[in-house]
Amino acid sequence: MAAVDYLERIPNNVNLRENRRLLRALEEWQPKFLDWWSEMGPLGFQAKEVYLRTAISVDAKGWAQFGYLRMPEYRWGIFLAEPEPGRAINFGDHQGQPAWQEVPGEHRGTLRRLIVTQGDTEPASVEQQRHLGRTCPSLYDLRNLFQVNVEEGRHLWAMVYLLDAYFGRDGREESEALLQRRSGDRDKPRILGAFNERTPDWLSFYMFTYFTDRDGKYQLAALAESGFDPLSRTCRFMLTEEAHHMFVGETGIGRIVQRTCELMREHKTDDIRQFGGIDLRTLQRYLNFHYSVSLDLFGSEISTNAANFYTMGLKGRFEETKKDDDHRLKDATYRVTALDGERVVTREEPALPTLNERLRDDYIADCARGVARWNEIIKRHGLGSELALPHRGFRRAIGSFADVRVSPDGRVISEAEWDARKDEWLPTENDKVFVQSLMRPVVERGKFANWIAPPARGINGQPIDFEYVRLA
Ligand SMILES: [Fe+2]
Ligand SMILES: [Fe+2]
Repeated sequence: MAAVDYLERIPNNVNLRENRRLLRALEEWQPKFLDWWSEMGPLGFQAKEVYLRTAISVDAKGWAQFGYLRMPEYRWGIFLAEPEPGRAINFGDHQGQPAWQEVPGEHRGTLRRLIVTQGDTEPASVEQQRHLGRTCPSLYDLRNLFQVNVEEGRHLWAMVYLLDAYFGRDGREESEALLQRRSGDRDKPRILGAFNERTPDWLSFYMFTYFTDRDGKYQLAALAESGFDPLSRTCRFMLTEEAHHMFVGETGIGRIVQRTCELMREHKTDDIRQFGGIDLRTLQRYLNFHYSVSLDLFGSEISTNAANFYTMGLKGRFEETKKDDDHRLKDATYRVTALDGERVVTREEPALPTLNERLRDDYIADCARGVARWNEIIKRHGLGSELALPHRGFRRAIGSFADVRVSPDGRVISEAEWDARKDEWLPTENDKVFVQSLMRPVVERGKFANWIAPPARGINGQPIDFEYVRLA
């Protein structure tokens, strides 16, 4: 095989050319990444040309370039947002000190764990989504799936860059381990629960990109505040790409809602399964599932780790620098939702250990905005139903609600009531079989599966019937 010019292959703004040690580490890692990609990346389609966006710089006006390429030839690059001259640590005990350009020795282990945990989610989602190509509802959607997949691959690169560049030998070992864990594997699972769930159909995919990628947005936003400057800059640029993933989720569900409403009106019934649409009740159950799984990703309401990450200056709040307080929070309190015996109550707690809950609150408010937009679609069709976020205590596996059963409307209920009603609230076997039955590939240009409306516009100014993936 001809020698690969890695400097050419790895677009970057980290001066890779000058850093031979790092370049060598990445050169060693890259073939292993490609092996992982061919084993666990999108099934099929690897030899097809896909109309993809590639990050080529961090210039806000022109950071990406669009063009056809085969996924294994994607140029997974390393980009950090431009440094802010004189950036300081903006919160915690080190507040006011210059941001760290190297890993502070005393926080090394903690920082590495934060980076590995974030990094692990990136390949995990690619693994979860690897079977979806075969059942795409259109070429447009197929292209969006692959765009999300290659960018999650790039996010893995971003975290591996940090590990290789700043954590020496341990970092390189962690970089290897990121390629060895497997979503859903019994012996070597991915680190976080939601990333071991299956994404077996496109409804799940849109729910995942809406709810679970949005968790990613909030985690990245909190890490973008980090006093460790390379992590901050890396995450800031990742957020640029992440926006598209959530767009895919929000518009994907919006287009399903749209199609559902059209079928409801046309046939004057809520029960549109017989006409090949996904009824609103099923959408609500999928929403309940993905939302509750994603809420768990924020961790316990009361967490010493969260307090420590903040106090050490490693992980800030969402939009930390826009907040108008002392950014130390030693004497502050925060109102959290909690259990008082069988009752759901809110109470003031010392602020530092509640930082997970605060980030979850920001996330919930963001999730609610999309739900409101989907409800607008329903309203425009003159229909009375609504989708809703279930209560934050619903179906939780982590935190204070993990030991009780909570209904979507926020009541602590008995095990008996849960058993009697859980099929109203969560996807049933029947739902899954039904949704799966709709998953027939549509690959004709400009055509869409019957259960989803076409998008309002194409990608990068291209028409909707553009040949987003060249299958011929
Ligand atoms: Fe990502
Ligand atoms: Fe993402």
